[in-house]
Amino acid sequence: MMTPGATKFIAPLTFQALSGASVSVDPFEIPRQDDIEHIELSHWADVIVIAPATANTLAKLAAGMADNVVTASVLATHAPVVLAPAMNTNMWENPATVENLRRLKERFFYIVEPEYGELASKREGQGMGRMARIERVLTQVLYAVTQPKTLAGVRVTVTAGRTEEYFDPVRMLTNRATGRMGFALAEMAVALGAEVTLISGPTDLTPPDGVRYFQVIHARQMLEMVQSHYPNNGVLIMAAAVSDFRPEAFSQNKIKKTGDSLQVRLVPNPDILASVAKHKKALHVGFALETDDEIERARDKLKRKKLDLIVVNNPNVPGAGFAVSTNKVTLLFKDGTTQELPRMDKRLVAREILIRIIALLEQAS
Ligand code: CTP
Repeated sequence: MMTPGATKFIAPLTFQALSGASVSVDPFEIPRQDDIEHIELSHWADVIVIAPATANTLAKLAAGMADNVVTASVLATHAPVVLAPAMNTNMWENPATVENLRRLKERFFYIVEPEYGELASKREGQGMGRMARIERVLTQVLYAVTQPKTLAGVRVTVTAGRTEEYFDPVRMLTNRATGRMGFALAEMAVALGAEVTLISGPTDLTPPDGVRYFQVIHARQMLEMVQSHYPNNGVLIMAAAVSDFRPEAFSQNKIKKTGDSLQVRLVPNPDILASVAKHKKALHVGFALETDDEIERARDKLKRKKLDLIVVNNPNVPGAGFAVSTNKVTLLFKDGTTQELPRMDKRLVAREILIRIIALLEQAS
């Protein structure tokens, strides 16, 4: 398929001669007898690749337009769509393009980011926006068509965020977790067809569409929620940063300062994973935030909490941990294998984790 713009660079006849396949250009043309119409093409395709994808095409796709054979096919398809953007640097960096890409990523388009290099316009010379090498495009295509696509009918319970443990109406013990990793996991699991329950501590994030959402404040509430939404035969993902301690006493009134030091005695909170591990009937995935000896300590946690998989991250590594949109994690499996993932967007980390979970579920069945 070619957009009208593409035909200005290369004639459809050239593509037809080189590929030996017919080339579709006009969505309104009446197909010849042995041709497939674009609507049919969009059902027939296992994957649609747009390479190069111009800023104009990205904008049209982000808006859901269907004004040429390429955009119309994308709008009509259920197949994964891989986009390999190529454009000049200013267009690539323009906030409109940035926003369009963000929307497309949200809708699970596969984006093969462009590279730095020589651009088509001689005036510009080198810059960001050159189309990705074809091997990189191919990798995404293979990924899009081979990844297991479904968690259909599988119950997935995800915990996210932090807990807040109050010792008077305004003061509490907490940590810096924002909930982003857990929300991304819930969102991806919904996209893969799972029945998702998301249990989160206090957060500013909006729960993704399609999840059953419960908000809790402290660890004991989270334990209760996890127990009542325990996903029998499904998957429990504990991405929440649960406070290990809580103040022993709670004062109904705000504690006044007296000039003296204040002692707040902390007592241990229940360990949610350890408590549901006693009657384990689902796949359990835990997270570990470690600043030192991370692999060894996480391996110990994996055993202690009877986990199938533990996701380890170190908040001191740039682009990992709390309050950033990316993460860099290592996966440790029950069978002793380890996989280190590169730094990437938390949504993509979520997808990688869920792909591993699907494989573990398949092994178990
Ligand atoms: N977790 C839990 N209940 C708790 C604390 C933690 O279920 N009270 C879960 C977390 O959601 C996470 C995993 O256990 O999936 C590991 O959390 P982490 O705080 O790193 O582990 P701890 O067991 O608290 O170990 P540490 O001694 O390192 O704090």
